[in-house]
Amino acid sequence: LRGDELIVVSNREPYIHEDTGHGTIVKRPASGLVTAVEPVMRACSGTWIAHGSGSGDRGSVDKHDRVLVPPGKDDYTLRRIWLTEEEEKGYYFGFANEGLWPLCHVAHVRPVFRENDWQEYRKINQRFADAVVAEARSEDPVVLVQDYHFALLPALIRKKLPRATIITFWHIPWPNPESFGICPWRQEILEGMLGSTILGFHTRFHCKNFIETVDRYLEARIEHEHSTISFHEDTTFVENYPISIAWPSDTTMATWAPVAQCKERVLQRLGMPPGHRIAIGVDRFDYTKGILERLHAVERLLEKHPEWIGKFSFVQVAAPSRSSLEEYRAFQDRIQNTTRRINERFGNDSYQPVHLLAEHHESDALNELYRAADACMVTSLHDGMNLVCKEFVAARDDERGVLILSRFAGAAREMSEALIVNPYHVEETADALHRSLTMPEAEQRERMASLRMTVHEFNVYRWAGRMLTDAGRWRLRERIEAR
Ligand code: G6P
Repeated sequence: LRGDELIVVSNREPYIHEDTGHGTIVKRPASGLVTAVEPVMRACSGTWIAHGSGSGDRGSVDKHDRVLVPPGKDDYTLRRIWLTEEEEKGYYFGFANEGLWPLCHVAHVRPVFRENDWQEYRKINQRFADAVVAEARSEDPVVLVQDYHFALLPALIRKKLPRATIITFWHIPWPNPESFGICPWRQEILEGMLGSTILGFHTRFHCKNFIETVDRYLEARIEHEHSTISFHEDTTFVENYPISIAWPSDTTMATWAPVAQCKERVLQRLGMPPGHRIAIGVDRFDYTKGILERLHAVERLLEKHPEWIGKFSFVQVAAPSRSSLEEYRAFQDRIQNTTRRINERFGNDSYQPVHLLAEHHESDALNELYRAADACMVTSLHDGMNLVCKEFVAARDDERGVLILSRFAGAAREMSEALIVNPYHVEETADALHRSLTMPEAEQRERMASLRMTVHEFNVYRWAGRMLTDAGRWRLRERIEAR
């Protein structure tokens, strides 16, 4: 694919310009998608099309709505698309986040399907398709369509650019056919996605669910042997590509403060005495992440092992997310109430068992926290992959610290040296937490060293590399067949 044109499309933009009143600052969003795709774009360059969501975004683009990013480095072009409040409400909050998000995640939150949201979703998918066509400098660009905001985009692009190579990656789980079947527009969604040349999911299981869903609801030809689906004129290759992070370079690691210093700083900041033990959770404030179940496990730990009272705290970073949705606000209240209750039950003037930091943290601050923690709890109820567990492991060059990981996160398939738990099983998670706090150093080292090897090797460049190599092979085959 060397020399070919690369266009990425996602809803969330990698850099958000915010007006502070005294000037503009640039923020990075809390998004696994952005964490993964950004380093790839920096390495490959090209154009990234996304929703311009920051208050200072309009002031930062040229007359074609483009801005070079990262600021000061200018590795690639960010092309912003503007949405009205009404459009964002229907397409993003409504259909994407109240419809598809709960439809695809088994978190027992009921999806809401409104006709109006669906119409906005269709309209905005068309708008992004037009932008792809406008940005394309060749007839056959490689377009990377990202996530559930754009299920209709592949077929819309295919209509205008029949020779494009469209790689669609679905960053969240794909449910079984019965679950997916409740979506009133299931056929349109599947047909939209089948405009892709390659359709990627994190796990084989999600690929299998998708193929079975197509088999159930469309008249398509499925070749299980090759994992392809032929529908009308198009053939789509369905494959699993587990996403990952960019492993930190030696130069980056050299800038990190020693672990002991990170720990000292974090304890001091949170008003904890030296030697205090901490476990952390780092998530968007989202009901799929299992934050409530995690708090229950912390509470159970303190009940079962009162020796930890006064000596151990749990620190939850929860970046505000989709807060204009009722479901998210109610969830935030619930977490706040539970935190308060546990703190009243086990805390006192000088000891707080749970610290809830409900604000956005920049990556340096998170890294310090990862390095300071005795354990990191990733207990999603359901998660496509989850990159927090990979970031935690990458931060621990001291080979210490224990990862507690939900078996319902895609990452559990690769990271079996973690303490794997069922987050719904509070007792099991509490026991894993106790085990992590009492685990001998040698065992921590063994587990962490092995996890680090996995994440180092199966990094995000491999994720992108495998998809692009498959796309390259596909293009070559098509050219040969066209002769
Ligand atoms: C998940 C989705 C991403 C999304 C991220 C943050 O990781 O798969 O597409 O960007 O959540 O959510 P937000 O709605 O803030 O973009």
